Amino acid sequence: MTHPFSKTLLDWYDSHARELPWRIGPGVDVRPDPYRVWLSEIMLQQTTVATVKAYFERFTSRWPTIEALAAAPRDDVLAEWAGLGYYARARNLHACAQVIVADHGGAFPRTEAELRTLPGVGLYTAAAIASIAFDEAATVVDGNIERVMARLHAVTDPLPGAKKRLYALAADATPQHRPGDYAQAVMDLGATICTPRNLACDLCPVSDLCQARAQGIAATLPRKTPKKAKPTRHGICYLVHRKDGAILLTTRPDKGLLGGMAELPGTDWADEAPPPAPPLAADWRAMGEVRHTFTHFHLVLTVMRADVPMDARADRGRWTAKMDGEALPTLMRKALTCGLGPERLI
Ligand code: ADE
Repeated sequence: MTHPFSKTLLDWYDSHARELPWRIGPGVDVRPDPYRVWLSEIMLQQTTVATVKAYFERFTSRWPTIEALAAAPRDDVLAEWAGLGYYARARNLHACAQVIVADHGGAFPRTEAELRTLPGVGLYTAAAIASIAFDEAATVVDGNIERVMARLHAVTDPLPGAKKRLYALAADATPQHRPGDYAQAVMDLGATICTPRNLACDLCPVSDLCQARAQGIAATLPRKTPKKAKPTRHGICYLVHRKDGAILLTTRPDKGLLGGMAELPGTDWADEAPPPAPPLAADWRAMGEVRHTFTHFHLVLTVMRADVPMDARADRGRWTAKMDGEALPTLMRKALTCGLGPERLI
């Protein structure tokens, strides 16, 4: 039986669906391209729709098919991803494209269970692709959907403990008919009406069904177990500016944080200020500090700069004249801007 919630929400979606570059709107009898659905879902993990749109357009015009993406050099994919963060996603994206071409003849698997076996495709993403691209009645649950379920059923247990219960409620609400549109409808509701703050209950198509609204507690849900405060780490990075404008860059190891991305040579990042480790002896000047927050810690990076002659020799790194083909994470863009001034970057 179709849940009254999903029936009402699908009716709302028919007239209120957001227009998004990867979406085929309701009422159009064409299935979306699984490649575009997959790419958008990977990008949308941890990143907002507003930010993803431009990246999605650039990726799909440069690599319109899974075959094109699989054939691209990995460094080009990382460079195009630069700024989106969570770079393991980009490494897995490229690995996944290669697996689909090599092992699946370029065709995406069609079920949630098979999709789960692909690099970088977890429970949420597999369910989202299976439902949006292939109309499988998979249970799609992300943070937005947890919030909607918590409010609809007035679940006051805090996250993450409440995850199982919210998943079961989401499974129960998922219809057999139009599950892909339904999943996108809940996403749109969570993004535009049932938002974390400034909720728009007056515009909500399912407010009559919402138990949290009835109890006057919608804005307080979902509750969350307080997280441990993030520690702050410290490091130094070295901007070596050669006479011809070239800059010394290193590449981070493949595994771990910012794996495979480019960076200014620097020290380790540690709880206490680390000992200096410049890549060459020079007249170093302190240019300032940049701050950046990662999933598990805050970082304060001191930017040192030296202007060096053409024959300078460094103990590591490569000289780079053009930054725009480099896989530079946001942290390093901030450091370069701090050391060079904004007009010099790209
Ligand atoms: N957030 C995550 N996936 C989404 C999608 N397919 N549409 C809109 N918002 C989303």
